[in-house]
Amino acid sequence: MTPEETRHVQTTFAKLQENADRAAAVFYERLFAHDPKLRQLFLGDLAEQGLKLMAMLRMLVKTANDLYAITPAIENLGIQHTRFHVQPADYETFNQALLEMLAEELGPDFTPEVRQAWQQIYTEISSLMKEAGKDVVR
Ligand code: HEM
Repeated sequence: MTPEETRHVQTTFAKLQENADRAAAVFYERLFAHDPKLRQLFLGDLAEQGLKLMAMLRMLVKTANDLYAITPAIENLGIQHTRFHVQPADYETFNQALLEMLAEELGPDFTPEVRQAWQQIYTEISSLMKEAGKDVVR
């Protein structure tokens, strides 16, 4: 992540946090609209899951300029996700839902540069997660 990309994700994430519950709800609505069968993978309360997702995103966004420093935590998340029965292709669906939620929540602040910065951080994180999770036996 360049310093510019880091700045874009950090300033826009701060805006998302003003309505974190709504952002998480919009995200899951988009995710399940793209692929309804993903709903059955979530066993717990979705509002609670949304809090966990936002907390993890907060940590990742905070460390955006130095993701290598938290590579073990990201890899661990990838291993967990294979055990949650998440398939490699699901990361693309998740990516789409994330970008749509950002577009809806950020409105005019979702500029092409901001979109590109989020795409970049998501690609870096999801690549590490998929790689770490690919040989995990469930
Ligand atoms: C950057 C990408 C992602 C992040 C940051 C993320 C974050 C998280 C976090 C923090 C948890 C909670 C783990 C725990 O309870 O210890 C979780 C659980 C989960 N995530 Fe993700 N996730 C990502 C990608 C995905 C993708 C692509 C899917 C596919 C649909 C997915 C589906 C799930 C499921 C099914 C659970 C378990 C829910 C349950 O136990 O009810 N996640 N995720």
